[in-house]
Formats: sequence, C-alpha cells, structure tokens
Amino acid sequence: MTILVTGARGNVARALVEQLLRDGHEVRAAGRDPGTTRLPGGVEVVAADLARSANWDAALDGVTKVFLYAGTAGLDGFLSRASGLAQVVVLSALGADPASEDAITRAHGEAEQAVRDSGLPWTFLRPGGFAANRLLWADSVRAGVVRDPFPDSHSALIHEADIAAVAARALTSSGHLGATYSLTGPESLTVRQQAAVLGGVTGAPVRVETQDLDDYRRELTAAFAARGLGSVGSASVIEARIRRLAALVDRPQATTETVRDVTGRPARSFAEWAAEHAAAFTR
Ligand SMILES: NC(=O)c1ccc[n+]([C@@H]2O[C@H](COP(=O)([O-])OP(=O)(O)OC[C@H]3O[C@@H](n4cnc5c(N)ncnc54)[C@H](OP(=O)(O)O)[C@@H]3O)[C@@H](O)[C@H]2O)c1
Repeated sequence: MTILVTGARGNVARALVEQLLRDGHEVRAAGRDPGTTRLPGGVEVVAADLARSANWDAALDGVTKVFLYAGTAGLDGFLSRASGLAQVVVLSALGADPASEDAITRAHGEAEQAVRDSGLPWTFLRPGGFAANRLLWADSVRAGVVRDPFPDSHSALIHEADIAAVAARALTSSGHLGATYSLTGPESLTVRQQAAVLGGVTGAPVRVETQDLDDYRRELTAAFAARGLGSVGSASVIEARIRRLAALVDRPQATTETVRDVTGRPARSFAEWAAEHAAAFTR
C-alpha cells in the first residue's frame, strides 16, 4: 500500500513523510519542484502539480491513499483521475465553508465539497494558523524587532508535526473516514507573547512594533510569491487574513483537544516549536 503525499515542499508534507517512513509505510511524495524538497533521503519524489494534469498517472500509480494539499484549481480533474482510492486526507483549514464570505475558508470549503462530490472516502483536517508561519519573522527576530499590524492579536498556533501526526493516524488506522478534525495548538498567544517566546529561545530580546497595514500587505504578497504560492497570497486572501487578525485582538482563540483525541499525545506548545526551530531565529 503506497501513500502519496502531495505538496512535498510544504512543512506539513515533510513532517508527514518523515512520520510515515519512521513507521515503516511505503510513501511517495509529489511536488511541483521535486529538486527543492527537504525530504528524508530515499523517499521517492515525483514532479506533479495538482493544477496541471501532467504526471498525475505516474504520481498515482499503485497508490491507495492520498494526503492532499487542497487548492481548488485542477482539483476536480485530479480527483476523477484518482477514482478507486481508499481514502483522501485533505489539508483544509479551520472553519472551512463553501458559503463563507472569508476567501480562505470559502476556498477550503469548496475544495472539501469537490472531494465529497468525488465520492472518494475522505478525512478532512482543518488546522488553524501554523506555527511555521512565524518563520516569516526569522530575519526580524534576528534583527531584534518584529513588525506586525496587530501586536495584541491572538492565535493558537499549531506545530506542523501535530498536523502530520493526525494525518498519519488518519491514513494508517481505522475509524477516520468521514471525520472532520479541527486542529489548534494548546494555547492562544498574542503576537507580543509569541515574539517573547522566540526571544527566550534565542537569548536575545525581541521588540514588537505596530506595522503599517500597507507594508504588511506588501510583505505578505512578496513572501507568498517567493514561495511560488502567488495564488495563495492573492489580495482577497490577504484581506481575509487581516480581518481575521483584527477580530482576534485581545480575544484568545478557542483551542481544541483533537490532536490529543486522535493521536493520544497533547498538542505541542509554541515554546516547543520555537525551541526546535531556534536556529532559524538566531543571529
Ligand atoms: N499557514 C497556515 O497558517 C494555514 C492554516 C490553515 C490551513 N492552511 C492551508 O494549508 C495549506 C498549506 O499551507 P502553507 O502554504 O502555509 O504551508 P506549507 O506546509 O508550507 O505548504 C505549502 C505547499 O503547498 C503546496 N501546493 C501549493 N499549490 C500547489 C499545487 N498547485 N499543487 C500541488 N501542491 C501545491 C506546495 O507544494 P509543492 O510546492 O511542493 O508542490 C507547497 O509546498 C494551504 O492550503 C493553506 O491554506 C494553512
């Protein structure tokens, strides 16, 4: 039984490939640019883009289950080519809803709907904000000043390894078909508190300054484009992010116990994530 993990360059995909290999499963990874993945040696990596049909057959050959980074472009075509799969585990987002006015949750809701309509057995993972988003702060933390438009905005950031651990359970044990898992980290922290945690692990204090919103828009657009994720970083998505951050100023984000319920282990804290990634933030 081969499991195909799409989005091979992504943080969640990398953590999932590592976990599946460690547990002795057969894994193939698919990414748009296989030469740039940071996957463990020995794993088969094929070039495949969900938005283009070239190479789907090679990626799906002998595959029984798929971990899917769900963009909506090309998804219907990919799913019809994938008929016969035993399960698709979809990396969606907290609050996914095709009727949502928020561009992010609407796109994920539409992707989930396409998977439902395909008739394939599915499991939906709906994480909130990734701790890995804070890697965008790496240069700023090294310089000692983080700029953010909403320093008192909360988020319960989740470690990529916890999303991967839930995905691995869903793919390799029974009882997860038709399940929707809302996933968060264990605690809600403000931007200021997150910066303080990063300062703590690097040993150098980090100041937080309020950033002009237009600067934030420009920075985020450039950051998405640099990762080849221009469509993810479209203007409507960035505006949805801004509204969401504003709504969580001084309001702790609700957390879930789903990581523990599914994996038997509590979700990792932001401090644990920061300690593991300290090198990225250290001068
Ligand atoms: N970041 C967050 O806080 C957050 C929160 C909730 C949900 N999500 C969702 O989780 C997913 C990944 O988020 P991220 O970008 O922040 O994390 P990431 O783990 O860095 O993933 C980015 C990966 O998405 C893959 N991807 C993008 N377009 C693709 C396409 N057309 N075909 C195949 N793969 C494609 C890329 O894989 P390759 O380049 O290797 O092909 C890329 O490496 C997105 O759908 C996002 O909306 C993110």
